[in-house]
Amino acid sequence: MNNLMRAYAPPSLVVSHGKGVWLFDENGEQYLDGFGGIAVNCLGHAHPAIAAAIADQATRINHCSNIFVNQQQIKAAQTLCELANMDRVFFCNSGAEANEAAIKHTRLHATKRGISNPVVITFEHSFHGRTMATLSATGNASVKKGFEPLVGTFVHLPYNDVAALEQAFEKHDNIVGVMVELIQGEGGIRPATQAFANAVRALCTEHDALMICDEIQCGMGRTGHWFSYQHYGVQPDVTTLAKSLGNGFPIGACLSWAEAADLIQPGTHGTTYGGNPMAARVALEVISVIQTEALLASNLQKGDVIMQGLREALGDSIVEVRGRGLMIGIELPTDPSDFVTACKAHKLLVVKAANNTVRLLPAYTISEAEIQDIIERMTKAMHDLKEAA
Ligand SMILES: Cc1ncc(COP(=O)(O)O)c(C=O)c1O
Repeated sequence: MNNLMRAYAPPSLVVSHGKGVWLFDENGEQYLDGFGGIAVNCLGHAHPAIAAAIADQATRINHCSNIFVNQQQIKAAQTLCELANMDRVFFCNSGAEANEAAIKHTRLHATKRGISNPVVITFEHSFHGRTMATLSATGNASVKKGFEPLVGTFVHLPYNDVAALEQAFEKHDNIVGVMVELIQGEGGIRPATQAFANAVRALCTEHDALMICDEIQCGMGRTGHWFSYQHYGVQPDVTTLAKSLGNGFPIGACLSWAEAADLIQPGTHGTTYGGNPMAARVALEVISVIQTEALLASNLQKGDVIMQGLREALGDSIVEVRGRGLMIGIELPTDPSDFVTACKAHKLLVVKAANNTVRLLPAYTISEAEIQDIIERMTKAMHDLKEAA
């Protein structure tokens, strides 16, 4: 028993520390971390460059409020804008806050267009966060249950359905934004089709709506490009980041482009902690390590090795393996909870997505030997599951 609010299921291990892709519990047991704190620890645990940056920055300045500005924040914004082809950045502390800022962009855009009853399109099985606006945006009923009345008005359409999107734009003349994960994470590692990504961009342009890419799980290089919209060659008006941006240090960001970049003006949005020198310094260091170690290209190659290895090893015990780079889903014919438990028995930590998929979101720094280790542990876990059936 502890005094924490019961927001989470009872924890199944008490973590002591980590090193690279390895996690250690209080009893000294060692686990292969296959999901890096839910797509957060992109450089693994206790990365020396990140630890050194945090230690150094702590001796200089940690926080100074947004009444002033700091060089770390300016540099982090400039670097992110260059990587993402964006114009402006608002720093915050989490994914949900980044999406709140994006949703506020749609309201300001509606005001600019003179629309008093704005609609934002989001998609079934999407996940955008747990604040009131972001849970309202989320396309999963279980996240909203008990929290009605919700923030209006989000219309949830089927994912990858171009016709449904076209019909929605025909039906409503008050759509001010479309918010999309081009690879759905919590929804089961589901990539958008090229046609769908093109349609979102084209319809938003045609109808003066903001295209918002939620890159919180699929961004920051995990899929082999800095941002997953770069796989599709589409340019969103707004994009949101968190998770791997800080490798575990809390930071989120909402980036805006072109006309959308003028929507936020002094007094329209703010945060006490967002973009403090410590968080911005960590983000800069994360980006620098990804660049120096050429991790974008290796993420793609490592992802292919894992996906091919799992297809061969798990065969027809699974429905399919899908994903991009190090964002991988293994779809099972049944609820994946028992498989997650079987993996844990082999000291491999993986996490569910939707009601049929297990996710692998390992650190970009994972070695070839550790990749083979994941495949072997998963194969043994599947074997155990079949024996027990
Ligand atoms: C795609 C996506 N958007 C938003 C969020 C919310 O981020 P946070 O938990 O940092 O608020 C998540 C978290 O899982 C996510 O995967």
